[in-house]
Amino acid sequence: MAIVFHEKTNIFHLTNKDVSYLIRIMENGQLENLYYGKALKDREDFSYMHEEGMRSQMSINVPEPGLLSMHYTRQEYPSYGTGDYRSPAFTVLQENGSRISNYVYAAHSVFAGKKSLEPLPATYVESDEEASTLEITLHDQVTNTDLILSYTIYENHPVITRSARFLQKGSEKIVLERALSASVEFIDMDYELMHLSGAWSRERYVKTKKLETGIQGVQGLNGTCCGAEFNPFLALKRPDTTEFQGEVYGFSFVYSGNFLAQAEVTTFDMTRILMGINPEGFAWELKQGESFQTPEVVMVYSDQGLNKMSQVYHRLYRTRLMRGKWRDLARPILLNNWEATYFDFNEEKILNIARKAKEVGVELFVLDDGWFGARNDDYRGLGDWYVNLDKLPDGISGLSRKVEELGLKFGLWVELEMVNKDSDLYRAHPDWLIGVPDRFESHARHQHVLDFSRKEVVDYIHEMISKVIRESSISYIKWDMNRYMTEPYSRGAAPSEQGMVMHRYMLGVYDLYTRLTTEFPDILFESCASGGARFDPGMLYFAPQTWTSDDTDANERTKIQYGTSMVYPIVSMGSHVSAVPNHQLHRDTSLATRANVAYFGTFGYELDLNLLEDREIAQVKEQIRFMKEYRELIQMDGDFYRLLSPFAGNETAWMVVSQDKQTAIAGYYQCLNRVNGSWCRLKLQGLCEDTLYEVSYDTTPDTPVDSRLEAAYGIRSDKNPVKTYQAYGTELMYAGIPIDRDTLKRKSMDFASLIFVIKKAN
Ligand code: DGJ
Repeated sequence: MAIVFHEKTNIFHLTNKDVSYLIRIMENGQLENLYYGKALKDREDFSYMHEEGMRSQMSINVPEPGLLSMHYTRQEYPSYGTGDYRSPAFTVLQENGSRISNYVYAAHSVFAGKKSLEPLPATYVESDEEASTLEITLHDQVTNTDLILSYTIYENHPVITRSARFLQKGSEKIVLERALSASVEFIDMDYELMHLSGAWSRERYVKTKKLETGIQGVQGLNGTCCGAEFNPFLALKRPDTTEFQGEVYGFSFVYSGNFLAQAEVTTFDMTRILMGINPEGFAWELKQGESFQTPEVVMVYSDQGLNKMSQVYHRLYRTRLMRGKWRDLARPILLNNWEATYFDFNEEKILNIARKAKEVGVELFVLDDGWFGARNDDYRGLGDWYVNLDKLPDGISGLSRKVEELGLKFGLWVELEMVNKDSDLYRAHPDWLIGVPDRFESHARHQHVLDFSRKEVVDYIHEMISKVIRESSISYIKWDMNRYMTEPYSRGAAPSEQGMVMHRYMLGVYDLYTRLTTEFPDILFESCASGGARFDPGMLYFAPQTWTSDDTDANERTKIQYGTSMVYPIVSMGSHVSAVPNHQLHRDTSLATRANVAYFGTFGYELDLNLLEDREIAQVKEQIRFMKEYRELIQMDGDFYRLLSPFAGNETAWMVVSQDKQTAIAGYYQCLNRVNGSWCRLKLQGLCEDTLYEVSYDTTPDTPVDSRLEAAYGIRSDKNPVKTYQAYGTELMYAGIPIDRDTLKRKSMDFASLIFVIKKAN
């Protein structure tokens, strides 16, 4: 049993072979967070871990002569206003204007398995043996409200998930002004806070800073998605924790809307982590009989560094957060027309691109923005989900069938949550926008946010888009979302309900996703938001892949994909080879390097292949052949290891290793070339020490060596550019693969790269 209740000491012990979490019922009936970390041997009494002492100016929460003070206690789910001066996990406004509450232990239950949180996304189990759940019911007598704290511990992962539910049984109306999902307290502050932050085209860079006294953290406030700026994730790591050793605690929020993730360090050096829906602008009314369920926080503990934490998130999110048929399938190699044509296309142009895609081995053609309404630019058309017959005279149904006749699957782009004012939808329903009547409505990309907090809006969009899907042959949908919410206000909600609008909006998005994924279970969904602004666990529950970034420059992508891999599985990262000069950065990188980076993701192309030379087409064919051979390993079977960080130096490296440790693929990427460069050794991970492996890699230059260089410096083309040798796992992991950085510069311009295939030798 992974959850034990020690009745004599009032202590709950959640444990598996990796992790322990201890909760104690204190003498005031509230809950204490006694311990979280490496697994402890179970015993009746851990109560010595409760620290208590007299301090000046201490407010005491039990009758005299007791000394229990909420400010110096590590609490499970702290409230506002009773002597704890840190940020609380919840605040309940009551009819008499008070915000003081007292939730005390009432009951608990332990059961095998895990409950669904639907309509909210959450991790799940496939059989009850996979996890155990503890529900502790706390009760506030004055308002007659229950608060149910849920904890699930997975049997085979160092994972504990948490959420909270308020149930108003009393007759008074209460307002949740703050209802976070989890609070976890640590006895010290000797940690670094790590999070993923960025902006459009440079999403999820890894940021780390030493914890300091006071509040630090990240948040999302844009209403519609987690955002490119900050991801709903943070980790506490010890200062000496590296990728492969040391303690780290990860906190990941399964939600796509406004969030708060913060660490607060007291002047007594205690650290409190809080995570949940951002309280800013949030106020949720509860009348008698109503309840509010918070989204889930997924906590991962690793004592083997960051890499182990990521591997746990990868496996859990790939197998117990993603759902549907595509969860277990390697992804089709696609070609997307966005950067090939932007809005400027017609059927003939599209079919020409698709034909060439088929010739090289692509499996899925995706028609991006511009196929509907009057959508010839981004000023108009959003909301009008019927085909633009000037561009596509046979409609999406005709085009999708023609693409299928070529031997490709067909995919379609949509942006269902948005509307342009220049659209039939807006002209018919001007009140369906998010915005405050009589006030200026901010616009972004000339578009506005539809009020998905209203069911009739979701119904209408559902009706329109499901008709298009039903009438056509669609295998994939890219669900985009290109602006953040401003002036949050619903014309369909009462004044007292306005604090519910942003969360209701997210529930509307999840509702539409649920309807479409249920109705069309074979369709592969990819979420997207101006590139990677909606890369979060909430989305992965519905769409098992996400467009990682609009930035397709290979070198920039090493940073973006490296950061994203902290939490998100490789198979969730949309990654394409695009044209050069790159459209976002105007930089040239070799075709080989562009593919070498994109292999570590879903893999596809985003360019007009008709514009490539024959030599490049041959290369593309070989890239697709390679990805088809290894995608099962890279996307499904393999464990991912980060080897060299692009945030630390001139090189990036990563690899995947099969579960049976017989096959691995490693990617090595150099940023700037070095003149007369030294050798380096790339040390691999995760192999079997005693296995003899064959290593092979191709050093063929992307462009032939200039004959003038041959004359001037004696630099010659390598007659045997494909290198192969054998070595034991010990050699590959502890001595490393020697890389001649001087030769590498001849492989291409700057941004050279190598792919190593490592297989058990025969
Ligand atoms: C933003 C996406 O990130 C792009 O890939 C593309 O789909 C455009 N939107 C289309 O408007």
